[in-house]
Amino acid sequence: MPSSKWVVFVYAQMGGQGKLCKLDLAGWRITVAPNRHLKVPLMSLSQGRAYLAIPGPSVMPDAVLQAMHRASPNIYEGELHDLTHSLIPDLKAVAMTDQNVAIYIGNGHAAWEAALSNVLSRGDTVLVLATGRFGIGWGEMAAGMGVQLETIDHGSQSPIDLDRVADYLAADTAGRIKAVLAVHVDTSTSVKSDIAGLRAVMDEVGHPALLMADCIASLGCDRFEMDAWGVDVMVSACQKGLMTPAGISFVWFNENADAARGDCVTSYWDWRPRTNPDGYYQFFAGTAPTHHLYGLRTALDLIKAEGLEAVFARHETLARTIWAAFDRWSADGPMQLNIADPAQRSHAVTSVEIGSPHGDALRHWCEHQCGLTLGIGLGRDPADAYFRIGHMGHVNAHMIMGVLGTIDAGLKALDIPHGTGALEAAALSIANGGTMPAQPPKAVTAAACCG
Ligand SMILES: Cc1ncc(COP(=O)(O)O)c(C=O)c1O
Repeated sequence: MPSSKWVVFVYAQMGGQGKLCKLDLAGWRITVAPNRHLKVPLMSLSQGRAYLAIPGPSVMPDAVLQAMHRASPNIYEGELHDLTHSLIPDLKAVAMTDQNVAIYIGNGHAAWEAALSNVLSRGDTVLVLATGRFGIGWGEMAAGMGVQLETIDHGSQSPIDLDRVADYLAADTAGRIKAVLAVHVDTSTSVKSDIAGLRAVMDEVGHPALLMADCIASLGCDRFEMDAWGVDVMVSACQKGLMTPAGISFVWFNENADAARGDCVTSYWDWRPRTNPDGYYQFFAGTAPTHHLYGLRTALDLIKAEGLEAVFARHETLARTIWAAFDRWSADGPMQLNIADPAQRSHAVTSVEIGSPHGDALRHWCEHQCGLTLGIGLGRDPADAYFRIGHMGHVNAHMIMGVLGTIDAGLKALDIPHGTGALEAAALSIANGGTMPAQPPKAVTAAACCG
């Protein structure tokens, strides 16, 4: 090998443009371990439309982008005002509530702070039911506002334990806890908690605390029924199931929550003028987020046209397809879904443990070699032992098959051990509308699958 002259062509990325370069390796010694393939990609296959399959921001529909591509509208009167008023009933519909909704220019953290500041006073106590990084974060924000924090930490692989919460609240005979903070789907772990069940146990023990839910990862993906489930305050943002570029967020609240009003609220965060504006500018406490509103209008139209029930069903079917693939991959090797029980899994995001450093290696390979960006092991230790797939909002069957096919290629390229037949199982799941046939398909041999 050292005596022969190797000439290698490399397809390199330079300033956004692909360039074919000649690398003269004369005199280089390349050692390849016995029986190992030298898997050096000679060119990237990532040109084409990039696919951001992280759990938000999600894929933006072209129709949403096109709706935003316009000259600045008149903010004093006319179309923009009508459009803003038209959003309110549709935002209520997507949360399944007849109550109030306030819009904020800001991300999910802004909605967290808006919700807390309207109902709490400094020195009040909240109970956080943490099921991952986002529950912890919401609690930290409350503590930063001078609120006393009590936390039941469920770790990173379990939903809210309703019995534990019932015991905890029953012991609070003095009514110290003013609000219970729960994350419907914690995006860091992909666990989904039973919010209706949480209300039921609060009622059973007769605790008067407000029930506040974070649906930032679940709204427009997983079923959520604010009024029927007895939720007092719900927060969400536009960049996930609502398919709009990050930048606006929402707080829905009922009369109980409004009556609870504490002393943390300042005029900017006050939800009252935003829901009952005397003048248009009060919707946003200043200039309207003009183009976001056009984008959101179109996104809500897409949801209406498909039908909310159909949106839920699509997300469930695609999630089941992903799980079907992971059932096969995890039959051999280090990979496993973070949440074991399908009933406790989100339909919008899937967290996977794959072992360190495979998580980061796979993400990098998929992005640089194939143009597919997966989510990081956010809040996990070590983070590079995990990755996440976002499957929220504007996603369909061929996109999910593309994600799964790319992951399958990455596992092979990186020699990460895995079971076979994942893509076959995913295809069968799609073919059967998200259910697997009673008889498992004939096993695919390793040679056929990995060749
Ligand atoms: C469940 C959940 N809550 C809160 C947030 C914070 O939202 P943002 O990053 O828009 O501030 C996120 C973001 O991913 C989230 O997934």
